[in-house]
Amino acid sequence: MTIHIGADPGDVAETVLMPGDPLRAEWVAQTFLTEVRCINRVRGMLGFTGLWQGHRVTVHGSGMGMASLSIYANELIRDYGAKTLIRIGSCGAMQPDVQLRDVILAMTATTLSTPSSGIFRELNFAPCANYPLLRAAADAAMARGTRCHVGGIYSSDVFYDERPDLNEIMTRHGILGVEMEAAELYNLGARHGVRTLAVLTVSDHLLTHEALPAADRQSSFADMVEIALTAAFS
Ligand code: ADE
Repeated sequence: MTIHIGADPGDVAETVLMPGDPLRAEWVAQTFLTEVRCINRVRGMLGFTGLWQGHRVTVHGSGMGMASLSIYANELIRDYGAKTLIRIGSCGAMQPDVQLRDVILAMTATTLSTPSSGIFRELNFAPCANYPLLRAAADAAMARGTRCHVGGIYSSDVFYDERPDLNEIMTRHGILGVEMEAAELYNLGARHGVRTLAVLTVSDHLLTHEALPAADRQSSFADMVEIALTAAFS
């Protein structure tokens, strides 16, 4: 047991999917896994362990933002031995050729700051995905016929951004989409020598101001989960 995770030693699989929303973690576990067991409920943050095609998998919420993800990912890696951590979540598109429901595989995650900024200080560390995992996810998306983009994303500290000029700079530099967690996950992957990747589905568009209706979110989320699971065990 850790401060934020009530699981016993051995309860967490080496492969962990991390949606932001704890109820989404429950839905993923119930929809895709068999022999599911709830392993964490501390502060309402839910974690489940089960089997996917015979492989042991944990699905654990990250909460919103890098500060929250950092707490859970640190404990999953350092105390429970997680070796592959894949964020599954939504993002806002920042390029005209990226459409709602498309999948984005985050090769890099640009940020203003992360919980790791304190140790990097003046260094502009470049958080990046694990390449074999990224390549396997791209292959899985192609095999499924899912519209998929591979490239840089922007991990923002704020959802209600008072600096729209920053978004414009990101778009001008080819950044595909914005979310709020991947950069710190990638920092932790580098620091602890574990595999990390963010597989994202586009839920809204910063250029066209379109947004996916709630009913459509589940189906694009399902596609992303299949891609993440296939990549993890390729
Ligand atoms: N996640 C989904 N859409 C987002 C947006 N527009 N900004 C930040 N995070 C997001």
